Amino acid sequence: MVKKLIAGNWKMNGSLAANEALLGELLQGLGQPGCDVAVAVPAVYVGQVQALLQGSAIALAAQDVSAHDAGAYTGEVSAAMLRDFGVRYALVGHSERRQYHGETDALVATKAQKALAAGITPIVCVGETLAEREAGQTEAVVKRQLAAVIHAVGACVTEIVVAYEPVWAIGTGKTASPEQAQSVHAVLRAQLAAASTQAAKVPVLYGGSMNAGNAEQLLAQPDIDGGLIGGASLKAQDFLKIIAAAA
Ligand code: G3H
Repeated sequence: MVKKLIAGNWKMNGSLAANEALLGELLQGLGQPGCDVAVAVPAVYVGQVQALLQGSAIALAAQDVSAHDAGAYTGEVSAAMLRDFGVRYALVGHSERRQYHGETDALVATKAQKALAAGITPIVCVGETLAEREAGQTEAVVKRQLAAVIHAVGACVTEIVVAYEPVWAIGTGKTASPEQAQSVHAVLRAQLAAASTQAAKVPVLYGGSMNAGNAEQLLAQPDIDGGLIGGASLKAQDFLKIIAAAA
């Protein structure tokens, strides 16, 4: 049985004051969570949030990581830099990076490698668009996206986290039904199992309009090992309810 992971993705939201208030309320209500918890914050706030989370049960995550180690890559943040600030997880291949920043499967795979090399767990995001779902390509798309990473990381596949995020469910309020999500998770779980006999320990998270009202049903599915939460992670009480649903 995989320990569940609930990861918040703040996306491009927050401010020094808002982050402090949000984390203050979260830490006050958290107690001893029955699952792993993380928050993926904008890069500029990594230092602030590291200090606020010191000694707490919430791990620090980044929303992206550079595919390069160091050098003339203006605007990029390397895995080693993130590690300097105690970053434990990094999202790679979020659909918003693929869609708005042209990230390819190959680039995402390199980013996953760089994270692993720095001791950071990549949370590898995969998911189909609405057009791909309607064309019956869901399985092929998510398998292609995950295969690129599996191929690149080799035996380290056991050290990754996977997040299935149907693009049509992100920020739309349209959640995949527990059955829809479970059927894709089962495909990903089988693909991981084919890659490594140890891959049963890889958490496969669901993301896409997960909230306090639907988390319990989604998390009850046999192959859903946690959540990657966008909008609802910006509201402390909602995020706490999702964490409680995962315990
Ligand atoms: O990374 C999180 C996902 O994109 C889900 O976002 O919960 O706002 O739909 P959402």
